[in-house]
Amino acid sequence: VNSLLFMGSSSDNVLYVIYIVNLHSPVSLEVTEKALVCHLQEVMGWEKFFQETPEPVNFKDKCISLEQFCQFHKSRERQLVLVTSGGTTVPLERNTVRFVDNFSSGTRGAATTEYFIALGYAVIFLNREKSVQPFERHLNTESLFGSITEDSDGNLCITGPNSQKIKSVYNQYKETKTKNLLLKITFLSLPEYLWLLRAASQTLNTHAPESLAVLAAAVSDFFIPQDDMTEHKIQSGGGPLSVTLQIVPKMLKPLVSIWGTNLYIVSFKLETDPNQLQKKAREALERYKHHLVVGNLLPTIRVCVTFVTRESEEDVKLTEENRQNGVEIEKLIVEKIHSLYKTYLKH
Ligand code: PMT
Repeated sequence: VNSLLFMGSSSDNVLYVIYIVNLHSPVSLEVTEKALVCHLQEVMGWEKFFQETPEPVNFKDKCISLEQFCQFHKSRERQLVLVTSGGTTVPLERNTVRFVDNFSSGTRGAATTEYFIALGYAVIFLNREKSVQPFERHLNTESLFGSITEDSDGNLCITGPNSQKIKSVYNQYKETKTKNLLLKITFLSLPEYLWLLRAASQTLNTHAPESLAVLAAAVSDFFIPQDDMTEHKIQSGGGPLSVTLQIVPKMLKPLVSIWGTNLYIVSFKLETDPNQLQKKAREALERYKHHLVVGNLLPTIRVCVTFVTRESEEDVKLTEENRQNGVEIEKLIVEKIHSLYKTYLKH
């Protein structure tokens, strides 16, 4: 258990004061009895999840990298942002052959990372293994190899119509490397993602308060607890398979109220029904009490998003002119988040 819980009741026994003291960020909440019970159930839910789920491989090394990266940029007064990206898998077996997956290519997270770097941020890119990567995403083998020519001495040169683009991506990549602006941490399964999300947000909260967390990953709401999973590959000889998936505790709650109390937190919401989007986005804000929800609908994720804060709602769309000039929606998303965040800091 990484937190201690102290409770005291007021004289009329209706209001309780809870102190959740964890290593990084003590918080206190004043709540009614009903809310207290609800809260305790939630605390038990997410604590139980971490107690019953083994720590990912190389977790300690990844925590050290996170800490070093945050300290490096904090000492240079550089703004930090955590970007999560890609879908989580839910293994069906402990020695995993089969898994359930969430929709996400990682394009949004990778592009968002590039635009934050362009604005001067250092980025912790918590990404799904083999998902779309910043910078690399611009260079497919066809366009890269198609642009390479060989001179008479056998040296390779980049020429042709794509060379300008390749050069510009290469320059951005080189600057990112030289200034150490990007830390990539990978996950595959849901438990790995949640362990690393907690570690990254706690590290930022401690070493670089006033950072941002932009949660573009598509995170499963269902999983099979470790104890319910078979050890080896499920055999088809037993006939049709039926599996029961349990609900994953929503980790945005502890992220906002315990792990990342100093952070400006932005979540994404993906829906398929246009009538549900704003309602769901607003419900998420009210429930988790974070700062901003960026809503998107599956058929239009590359052209339109809705920004929902407690005070406002605004659609951000790519115009036809934007599209013709190769502008990506993530550029507009990052500029908007940056400006909302600056306004938030001022107030
Ligand atoms: O990667 P692309 O192909 O470019 O696609 C981008 C995207 C569509 C995946 C992205 O823009 C997006 O919308 N991501 C969020 C998808 C979504 O709706 O996730 P969700 O409803 O499962 O989660 C909403 C929020 O709750 C997320 O911030 C998530 O981190 C959080 N969550 C989810 C599950 C869980 N157990 N605990 C959580 O805290």
